[in-house]
Amino acid sequence: MVSGPPEHQPVLVDHVLRLLNPQPGQVILDGTVGLGGHALALLPRIQPGGRYIGLDVDEAMLRGARDRLGETAEGWTLYQASYTAFPEVLAAAGVQAVDHVLLDLGVNSAQLEDGERGFSFERDGPLDMRYDRSQEVRALDLVNRLPERELADLFYHNAQEGNSRKVARRICQVRHAGRITTTLALARAVESAYAARGRSGGKIHPATRVFMALRIAVNRELENVREFLRLVPAYLREGGKVAVISFHSLEDRIVKQFMRAAKAEGTFEELTSRPVIADAAERAANPRSRSAKLRVAARLPRPTE
Ligand SMILES: C[S@@+](CC[C@H](N)C(=O)[O-])C[C@H]1O[C@@H](n2cnc3c(N)ncnc32)[C@H](O)[C@@H]1O
Repeated sequence: MVSGPPEHQPVLVDHVLRLLNPQPGQVILDGTVGLGGHALALLPRIQPGGRYIGLDVDEAMLRGARDRLGETAEGWTLYQASYTAFPEVLAAAGVQAVDHVLLDLGVNSAQLEDGERGFSFERDGPLDMRYDRSQEVRALDLVNRLPERELADLFYHNAQEGNSRKVARRICQVRHAGRITTTLALARAVESAYAARGRSGGKIHPATRVFMALRIAVNRELENVREFLRLVPAYLREGGKVAVISFHSLEDRIVKQFMRAAKAEGTFEELTSRPVIADAAERAANPRSRSAKLRVAARLPRPTE
């Protein structure tokens, strides 16, 4: 369990403010509101008269966001929903179009540090990894049920795990003797696959990529980003902006391809030809920012018939 209130330091906040440049009266859709760090910075910019609609699938994060936002501001509403379901949320909120959309992907520090959530190989806990705890599939289901070949492919495709076949084989040997149900049991299995090859995994812990690959699969992270970007253009006002912060090259590639294709079609203008990254001061203050990449594009006027 986490002690004290959950915490998460938002990344690239100044860049998000500068590039979105929100104005009083505007509507912002935050698909991953988390603990409300970006919301706290953006919300005052759209007042008076603005609306901030924040979504998260994790009830615990929404509780934290409510506590933090409640003290400071009005004009916000939070929903427990996937960002892929935002059209339904907007319909329920009576909102037809929005001015800005933000996605800040990946795992929240508060989730990572809570051993019970199973995201970290450094904390013992159930091998869970669901952002949405009402969802059925957990990491332990994949680890114990997938055939060796599929596990190896998952590690390779989602996280470029260079030792994927050996790791998958070792996991299958270990689970043959009894289900792997905890984070540390999985971390030990991965370490032993590396040790058997006389490798340490290099600069990062050998379990880093395996845990990331599983988290991405459990939460359908790549599919969700694709689906979100497919839906967004129809709901953005002219001049409205879509901003995505990603922490993984596969996510960033999806965002980049979306923005390039939208530019070629003439529906969006890219405001970041290269992804914006954290400066040295932010990287030093918040290690999580080191892999963050922000891309922003603006909706161009729709052609008149
Ligand atoms: C990096 S955190 C966001 C942090 C937030 N910007 C802040 O400043 O506190 C990402 C959040 O996305 C949430 N999340 C993951 N998948 C989601 C989905 N499909 N729909 C909505 N939220 C999701 C996670 O629960 C997590 O809280």
